[in-house]
Amino acid sequence: MNIFTEKQPLKVYLSALKAQNKKIGFVPTMGALHQGHLSLIKKAQQKNDIVVVSIFVNPTQFDKKEDLVNYPKTFDDDVHLLNSVSCNVLFHPSVEEIYGENTVSETFDFSGLEHQMEGKFREGHFNGVGTIVKTLFEIVAPDNAYFGQKDFQQLQIIKKMVKNYRLPIKIRGCKIFREDDGLAMSSRNSRLSVTHRIAAPFIYKTLKKAKKKFKKESSASVTEWVAKKFKKHPNLVLEYFTIADEKSLETIKIKESNKKYRAFIAVFAGDIRLIDNIRL
Ligand code: PAF
Repeated sequence: MNIFTEKQPLKVYLSALKAQNKKIGFVPTMGALHQGHLSLIKKAQQKNDIVVVSIFVNPTQFDKKEDLVNYPKTFDDDVHLLNSVSCNVLFHPSVEEIYGENTVSETFDFSGLEHQMEGKFREGHFNGVGTIVKTLFEIVAPDNAYFGQKDFQQLQIIKKMVKNYRLPIKIRGCKIFREDDGLAMSSRNSRLSVTHRIAAPFIYKTLKKAKKKFKKESSASVTEWVAKKFKKHPNLVLEYFTIADEKSLETIKIKESNKKYRAFIAVFAGDIRLIDNIRL
């Protein structure tokens, strides 16, 4: 695997491959890689000649400094894992290489998608995500880019960005990868205490029950039921649960048969914030 820390040599390297008509697949990450990331890499390998992974813990998408400081960093293990799946290229830039002197986000208009859910609870988060993903897309200029559906709102926002800027990149959303007990894989899981790790599968169990209930009940009644379940839980604190239209990400008021809905949840397990979602 070729490792680059600077954008210019990476651009030159990838241009030479593009000149030979090689297709580039891109998997942007913040490191602390797990099986979920590896599944994105495998998907990328199926449709592309070269797979580029980036590892960059993007400071501008963190709304809390302690979350950025505590974000798991396991670079040597990540390199080992990437080599084990025959990844071709790793881009691992410094903050200065990406942002220069000024570590700030651009401001984006994602037609309101950015104001729902995560956008409400993590101020500036999607401006940070938009800034880094756009920057990485400019550097790597991939044919296909791969994102997990665990961050479904992020995925929709990136699709919107690609459309708004008319970028010639196909965004591929990939299904959520779960532990055997149902917990959605996340780099943050490694920071859960034993008690919280045991408690955390309750999140997906509740989502699955909510999905069943939504077949017969209104969204308001399912939402109330979920809130009650978490109120009784000794180790998990619900930040939000909402049932939203998959396209607009707006919380639904009345069920319509021609629309696709998804339930979204954010939960604190101690000081670790976990998100998940399910198609209804
Ligand atoms: O999903 C992530 O890991 C990050 O938000 C991303 C897309 C790599 C941007 O920093």
